Amino acid sequence: MRRVSVSQRMKKMFLLGIIMGAVAGILFTVLIANGIISNKEETYAARVQTLTNENESLQQEAAKRGAVNNNTDLLAGNEEGWALALVNESHPMADTSYVPAEMIEVESERSVDSRIAADLEQMLADGAAEGLSMYVASAYRSYEQQRDVFDATMRDWINQGYSPLSAYDETRKSVAVPGTSEHATGLAVDIIASEYEALDDRQGDTDEQKWLMEHCWEYGFILRYPQEKADITGIIYEPWHYRYVGKAAAKEITEQGVTLEEYLGE
Ligand code: DAL
Ligand code: ZN
Repeated sequence: MRRVSVSQRMKKMFLLGIIMGAVAGILFTVLIANGIISNKEETYAARVQTLTNENESLQQEAAKRGAVNNNTDLLAGNEEGWALALVNESHPMADTSYVPAEMIEVESERSVDSRIAADLEQMLADGAAEGLSMYVASAYRSYEQQRDVFDATMRDWINQGYSPLSAYDETRKSVAVPGTSEHATGLAVDIIASEYEALDDRQGDTDEQKWLMEHCWEYGFILRYPQEKADITGIIYEPWHYRYVGKAAAKEITEQGVTLEEYLGE
């Protein structure tokens, strides 16, 4: 009797051992499988992220290349990179009669391309909320308006005794030759402080310009003609001329401390 009961108990323990072994085996397999799956998921997610990043940087490169081609076609379309259109003396407006398809008057007789109006208005409103007082002194300018500004400035130099040729050379350092001004894009604005309205270097010392220079990138703008960059931009330091390039590009340009020309590899 005693022997039978021992052998039965041993059988039971043996069976229990097999069952527990099987359960442990299944559990072990499930845990390993889960580990492998989650590893695979992580690898897959990392690959998707890498491809997304590569895609974004390829799109940015394509937008940069487009920016130095036909600037008015780029501006007229709504393709990626429209805000990067490069306009300067070596990249004149391809169509000098270009007018943005839709303009919004941000102040009396000061209109901009409607695509930048909300960001511009937000920037001005946030500046005003900081107690600053500034206004848009110039925005979109047609070819004819640019010509009038250029002629008036050139006359000033001539009145100061400059020869017409020297007056022309002086003028083009601060007023773009008609057909080469960013004001014709509807993406550029001159913002000046109410307390100091002169368009000279000291404009840059006002609280308004200090705030704008620090924060404009957050709204998609850059200070287009910074100090010490005249040899690249062709234009003297203009601490009032802001150019919309879009938020992503404005952030990169600001972080890199470069001009639009340098950013576009020109
Ligand atoms: N003052 C800037 C350079 C313009 O005339 O477009
Ligand atoms: Zn300007």
